[in-house]
Amino acid sequence: MVYKPAEDTYFLLDAIKDIKGKVMELGCGSCYVLSNIKASFKVGCDLYKPDLNKNDIEFVLADCKNAPFRANSFDYVIFNPPYLPSEHIIDIAVDGGKGGIEIPLQFLRTGLRLVKEKGKIYFIISSLSDYETLEQFLKKSGLKYIKKEKRLFYETLYLYLVDLS
Ligand SMILES: C[S@@+](CC[C@H](N)C(=O)[O-])C[C@H]1O[C@@H](n2cnc3c(N)ncnc32)[C@H](O)[C@@H]1O
Repeated sequence: MVYKPAEDTYFLLDAIKDIKGKVMELGCGSCYVLSNIKASFKVGCDLYKPDLNKNDIEFVLADCKNAPFRANSFDYVIFNPPYLPSEHIIDIAVDGGKGGIEIPLQFLRTGLRLVKEKGKIYFIISSLSDYETLEQFLKKSGLKYIKKEKRLFYETLYLYLVDLS
């Protein structure tokens, strides 16, 4: 089922609403985020096809892991991945695998492949996930990041900006 926009969706949108250039959203769900930004070139990729009536968004039905796009081709890669800790992936919209970071790390690796040399990656993760391991991955890869948070009743959402410039 296509993921309905929620607090995490709005948190991501709020951070990127003024970005321009070529944007790729991995796991775009309903394409709510892409629909609400004015970038010149917008591409969404997901395993579910959204009911889309916008003609300024290119949608590609594909697994992000093997996203069929050229390397280093987007100014921005954004994602709000499935991030809940889960032994098995049952609901692909929310189950993030072991520690809730298995799938986010796949998205991040794809993002690092697709983003331009001086591009930016924005993504969401939750306090419910093993975000410390993900931060270690960023540090070991020599990537600097800025982190913002939004407290909710049952979790804190983290928004990361990885700036390659
Ligand atoms: C938390 S939802 C976010 C949806 C949308 N970006 C938003 O913010 O409302 C995560 C999305 O990732 C998609 N997804 C999960 N695994 C995927 C994969 N391997 N390849 C592509 N999309 C995937 C799900 O179908 C879902 O739409």
